[in-house]
Amino acid sequence: MFPVHRPRRLRKTEILRKMVRETTLTPQNFIYPMFVVPGRGVKNPISSMPDCFQESVDEAVKTAKDVFSLGIPAIILFGIPEHKDEKASSAYDENGIVQTAVKAIKDALPDLIVITDVCLCEYTSHGHCGIIKNGKIDNDSTLELLALEAVSHARAGADIVAPSDMMDGRVGRIRKMLDDEGFSDVVILSYAAKYASAFYGPFREAAQSAPAFGDRRSYQMDPANRREALREVALDIEEGADIVMVKPALAYLDIISDVKNNFSVPVAAYNVSGEYSMIKAAAQLGWLNEEAVMMEVLTAIKRAGADLILTYFAKKAAKLLNS
Ligand code: PBG
Repeated sequence: MFPVHRPRRLRKTEILRKMVRETTLTPQNFIYPMFVVPGRGVKNPISSMPDCFQESVDEAVKTAKDVFSLGIPAIILFGIPEHKDEKASSAYDENGIVQTAVKAIKDALPDLIVITDVCLCEYTSHGHCGIIKNGKIDNDSTLELLALEAVSHARAGADIVAPSDMMDGRVGRIRKMLDDEGFSDVVILSYAAKYASAFYGPFREAAQSAPAFGDRRSYQMDPANRREALREVALDIEEGADIVMVKPALAYLDIISDVKNNFSVPVAAYNVSGEYSMIKAAAQLGWLNEEAVMMEVLTAIKRAGADLILTYFAKKAAKLLNS
């Protein structure tokens, strides 16, 4: 008790604080999300996500070089195709936008880890993450297409595939098809506990993937549920997920912590578009210090238990950490 105990003793100087710091951020744990579009020399700003762009493959290669040179080991790619239809054909087209981008980026940067988002929502005419039958998102017929998409990404050279659709059984189906096609060493990072969140709003502008009707609550998780996340994660690991993700991150730090404490696979957290945009907006208004809040938020996500952080702040945070 006081005066014997004085926690302030360890806070006296920055050197001392650093010595006893429990959580350290490094660019090594960041994954930078990128949006690829058809064309050449295209770099469209995304209005709700300042400093983020939709880029054609040639521009994406430049950005990927920049990312890698900052010490960030990985990117995750989202594709905006030329053509959308009911069956999401462009998602598993070997000359599709993501497949083309993966090839070009791996050619230029063989050591950069290229992750692909495996989902149908960017490729379906209706914007849902699965096939529609009788007005409902049909689980089982969607699995085949997701597996075809994952294999086409692997064939293009993806190191990691990341299913984000939240259909039941997709990790197992993807693992099986990858193995059957000779891609047993391709890693699966599953969006295991993915919530039906309003924080995805800006992303849907970026990826042009807002659902044309209804919402995603029949497949993404209810934000009110905590134990269910452990069930989702357990199932994905049983089916073969190598890394599991919690998404979003900030409003779900309890879930990140639960997953970290209950499982031994690496845990990723997605610091999603809305979490990024609200900090950017407040900073533009002069209401928050962007750099300080960014570092605080990323530290909190790591402190909660995230080994890997997917974040639109990756480049900015890496620059700061490297300086
Ligand atoms: C695709 C997908 C989404 C995000 C990642 N993959 C959108 C969604 O589920 O609606 C969101 C990422 C973000 O908000 O930054 N299913």
